[in-house]
Parts: sequence; structure tokens; C-alpha cells
Amino acid sequence: MIPTPEKRIAEFEKKGFGMFIHYGLYSQMGKGEWIMCNGHIPEEKYREELFNSFTASGFDARAIARLAKRAGMKYITLTTRHHEGFSLYDTCGLSDYDAPHAPGCRRDLIREFVDACGEEGIMPMFYHTTLDWHVKSFDEDFPAYLKYLRDSVEILCTNYGKIGGLWFDGNWSKQDADWEEDALYATIRRHQPDALIINNTGIGAQGRLGNPEIDSVTFEQARPEPMNREGMEKYVATEMCGTINDHWGVGANDFNYKSLPELIETLCACRRIGANFLLNVGPAGDGSILPIQKCLLEGIGDWIRACGGCIYDAKPTEIRGDGKNFAVKAGGKTYFFIHDLGIFGQAHVTVAGNGEGIKYFENVKGKVRSIRYVDNGEELSFIQKWNDLFIYAPACPYGSNYVVRVAEAEIEE
Ligand code: GLC
Repeated sequence: MIPTPEKRIAEFEKKGFGMFIHYGLYSQMGKGEWIMCNGHIPEEKYREELFNSFTASGFDARAIARLAKRAGMKYITLTTRHHEGFSLYDTCGLSDYDAPHAPGCRRDLIREFVDACGEEGIMPMFYHTTLDWHVKSFDEDFPAYLKYLRDSVEILCTNYGKIGGLWFDGNWSKQDADWEEDALYATIRRHQPDALIINNTGIGAQGRLGNPEIDSVTFEQARPEPMNREGMEKYVATEMCGTINDHWGVGANDFNYKSLPELIETLCACRRIGANFLLNVGPAGDGSILPIQKCLLEGIGDWIRACGGCIYDAKPTEIRGDGKNFAVKAGGKTYFFIHDLGIFGQAHVTVAGNGEGIKYFENVKGKVRSIRYVDNGEELSFIQKWNDLFIYAPACPYGSNYVVRVAEAEIEE
């Protein structure tokens, strides 16, 4: 028996695509969020240089929420506090190492973020570090640190209205410690019963299940594997998080951007198995989104629109295609995702529909009535023999190249 997902988990799966944001003091250096550690910068020097110069003058929460919406993203997971220990929210006296205390900022960026998400219909999620390079108690008095962490989380759960959930990261830093997870999660459930609880298991432990309160497993920088939920106590979701180049916090000299086709294919590969894709952006030091990152996101949004938006309701099927091809079900219809079709050309231009042809899918149960491309409505011819389906898939019409083309089928079950 596969357990039925609780409502918040079922709703999370339907969101499908989210924006991850890494923003903090480190962003001003443009060398990634680990620079304090990797660059061996003493805490005092780091604080002096980056806390005092932090302005967030370009941090426009409304513009960010609008961009997410434009990109087809349904939620945003923002770093409310990262390993450096600096909080973007008002820690209400717990600490003075936060955005409202930064002399050049004096704003609660999380308040702005939550308000903007509300206005744009985006679900706000809070990334929160569990590992802390700033407070001494992390190394010297762990139980006191855990209390500080819980109190911090309680602020996030009580001061910002209804939130989507908490996304923790850092337990991998002390593998054998007692993190008192039950108490932390109980704090969240007490104030925000509908909030998702996620705790990143890190690069070394993809998709590992954790505490029973955890609502989704994580796949950091890796395409997720399908989860066998047979006999599980609770239905948990799957989420992949990935960088847009090779850094989470902005790497100003990181030019190794993923291509738009790669990002589209990753989104498809996640939805194939019902996993969410949480794609990261790293704003500049002033909080503004880099134009190149904005463009890539807009491109994904355009693709989602062209292909009809079936990715949100997509549920995995038992249908198998050749290579990367696959099918999902959404809203009573079946959608075939066909890769690498190329462009339908002619001899005088250097384009050629060399991917056009017969696409084979097996395990197609029920009688196929019709199949058509979602982007232009073109009817496709096919032959079905028992559960084997052969679709004749034309290449993309000249003037387009969808990378992954989606065909919608009516199947009588
Ligand atoms: C890692 C890193 C961290 C980043 C996270 C995102 O755990 O420590 O910097 O925030 O991955 O998944």
C-alpha cells in the first residue's frame, strides 16, 4: 500500500517548480556563500566589512516574486539565515546580527519578501541554516545553541503570517550530534500546522529519509530517483535543488551557466517522477537579480506556457519511452514528453528535423483515441498494438525548437 499524501504534501507536489534564493552578507563578495569558511576570513573581519556595508538597496521583493511568477515558479525558498549566521529577518532581540540592525539597511527583508509573495500568489518558504559560524554556542554549548535555533524559528513561525514551510540545512555538519529535531519540528507544527518541513540531507545523502515529521526528501545538485513508497508510514515528496551555474550565493566570476535546454530538461526529468525542481538564483550584493539569471528563468517560463502547463498536475505513469522520452498524467489526459526532435528544415538551410520519426512507448494501457501537439494543436498519427504505442512525431516547425515537445493524448481506459 502506498500511503495517501497529507494535504500540504499533495499541494506541494502540484507546485512542481520553485525558486531558491541565496542572499546574505556573502553576496557582496561575489564568491559564493561559503567564502567566510573557504577563504578563512576571521569572524570579526567578516562582520566588520560585510555587515557595515550591507544595504540590500537593490533587493526588490516584489520584482523577485513577479519574476518567479513569470518563470512559472509557484514558490520561493529564501535563505532567512545561512551558515554565516546573519539573518534577513528581525530576530527580535535574539541577536543584533540581522538586516534590521545593519546600519545601511535597517529593513526586515523577510517581511518584504512575505508581503510580496502574498501579492503575487507565490508560496513563501524559509531556508534556515542549522549550522552557524557566527554564534559561539554552536561549538561551545550545543544545547544552548539549539534553543537559540528554536527561538529563531519560532519568530519566523509567528511573525509573518501563514508560511509555506521551513527548509533546514546543516545537520550534516555534526553527524553524530543530537539535534533535538523533535522539539524543533514541534515548534513549527504548533504555530504553523500546514507548513512543510524539509531538512536537506546534503550532497552525500541524496533522497535519504529522516525524522518522521519531514515532508520531502532532498536531492541536492542531482536529478532525483523515483521513490518506492510501497509500505511507507507516510507519503513524502521529492525535491531536487540545483544551481543555475556552479554557485548558490552569487559567484560573480562564475560563467559556467547551465543552458536553457538543460534547465528545461531537468525540470521535465523531475516532473517525470513527480519531483519538484527548486532552481537557485544568487542575487548580487545589493540584492538585485543578475540579468543573465533573469533571462534564463524567463525562458523556462516561456517554455512552460508553450507546452501547456501540464507539468504542475503531472503524475508519473507506468508508460515507458525510449531514451529520455516519457509520459505523465494530468487532468484525465496523458502527456507524452518527446525530446530532441530538432527543427523541420529543408535543404537550403542548415536546420534539419533529424529527430523526427516514430517514437515508441510501452505499457500504454487503454485505447488511444487521439494525440496532438500542445504547442500548435497538430494531430499526430499513431499505431497502437496492445500496450505498445508508436507515435509519428514530426520535428518542430521552422521558427521553433521546443527542446522537449509535449503531445496530449486522449486515452480510453
Ligand atoms: C549545501 C551548502 C549550502 C547550500 C545548500 C543548498 O548544503 O552548504 O551552502 O545552501 O547546499 O542546497
